[in-house]
Amino acid sequence: MPETLTGAGSVKKLPKWVQEKGFSNVLIVTGKRHTKLGLLNDLQNAMHDAGVKYTIFDNVQPNPTDLNVQEGLALFRENDCQAIIAFGGGSPMDCAKAIGAAAVKTKKSVEQLQGLFRVLHRIPCIFAVPTTAGTGSETTIAAVITNAGTHHKASINDTSLMPKYAVLDPELTAGLPPQVTATTGMDALCHAVEAYTNNTYNSKLEKDLAEKAVKLIYDNLYEAYCHGEDLEARINMQLAAFYAGRAFTRGCVGYVHAVGHTLGGLYGTAHGLAMAVILPHVMRQFGTAAHKRLARLAETCGIQGRDNAEKANAFINWIEEINSKMDIPAGLDVIREDDVPQIIEWAMKEANPLYPVPVIWGKEDFRKLLHAIRQVSAGK
Ligand SMILES: NC(=O)c1ccc[n+]([C@@H]2O[C@H](COP(=O)([O-])OP(=O)(O)OC[C@H]3O[C@@H](n4cnc5c(N)ncnc54)[C@H](O)[C@@H]3O)[C@@H](O)[C@H]2O)c1
Ligand SMILES: [Fe+2]
Repeated sequence: MPETLTGAGSVKKLPKWVQEKGFSNVLIVTGKRHTKLGLLNDLQNAMHDAGVKYTIFDNVQPNPTDLNVQEGLALFRENDCQAIIAFGGGSPMDCAKAIGAAAVKTKKSVEQLQGLFRVLHRIPCIFAVPTTAGTGSETTIAAVITNAGTHHKASINDTSLMPKYAVLDPELTAGLPPQVTATTGMDALCHAVEAYTNNTYNSKLEKDLAEKAVKLIYDNLYEAYCHGEDLEARINMQLAAFYAGRAFTRGCVGYVHAVGHTLGGLYGTAHGLAMAVILPHVMRQFGTAAHKRLARLAETCGIQGRDNAEKANAFINWIEEINSKMDIPAGLDVIREDDVPQIIEWAMKEANPLYPVPVIWGKEDFRKLLHAIRQVSAGK
């Protein structure tokens, strides 16, 4: 688990930390919007004061591609960088982790590194600074990268990718547009709910982390959405994303992610949006198999019901309600009929048999899910 610096303004302490760990020259991996909004100003000033040399790579796009990774890697090498500061949402953080992996696995393409334990080497030290509260990438072993040619989005999963250090500074998320707050927050919820409803690998520690994350999101996401400047709600959402990231690192995600990744790759759908929309559909389609665990999550939040079925349904209803209050649609209209077989193939390849989901789905179950997601959207 990464060592963390937490609290308002903590990003200003990062350069000293970098120096203490023995680094004097780093690559900062981020997005164009971050540099344009001046989100890096405090960090850059502190870097100058501490005398830490840096190069900025700000060409990471949302749903980062292997081309982004190659471009960043070239800068890392040209400038003899020793470590990486991953500054942004999941997209820059994942790109930074993949740059680190590519830096040590010189003979492998990103595609060849995707899957489980294909890096198995120490990568350059990563200092992760999340500016969204959602992915938990600052504490996970995953880096999700899209192949720019095929649009296949897949994950490099390797323990060496877990950042050694993370900075949770709520001031960096205070200016997030409400829609990004909403969708990225629902991604964190999705991590906790999928890890919790999964069958195996579920230790008490992961269950506790998932419950803590769900309660924090229940109590803080809507407040952060309505009042972005509320730093208490912001830090609570950052903690929720962090706990949920830890929970799914061993508890795994499930079909919501497997399907959502395909939409990110094919249509550029924002990850959090895909998660928010798909989560209640998948949980409903699991039916009674997920009721007991969803009922426990309902209890954690204080959501009432007479039995497990009622509680589980009330919990799914809450997900739909908070989506609706935050202007997140109930369906998605991007899915093209022609793409459905490809979506199903990729989703099944990602999830079966790796994810310990409560019910194993075949092609027809995925077809039913995709139909439901398109149907709701068409009915609006
Ligand atoms: N590695 C993991 O464990 C993991 C887990 C879940 C998701 N992911 C991946 O992470 C990516 C999504 O990350 P994300 O949801 O954080 O979104 P993102 O990083 O793509 O950012 C979303 C948008 O918000 C903007 N933004 C970010 N921070 C901002 C700020 N502070 N102020 C204003 N705008 C800001 C970005 O410029 C971008 O336009 C996807 O590729 C997804 O697959 C990774
Ligand atoms: Fe996610």
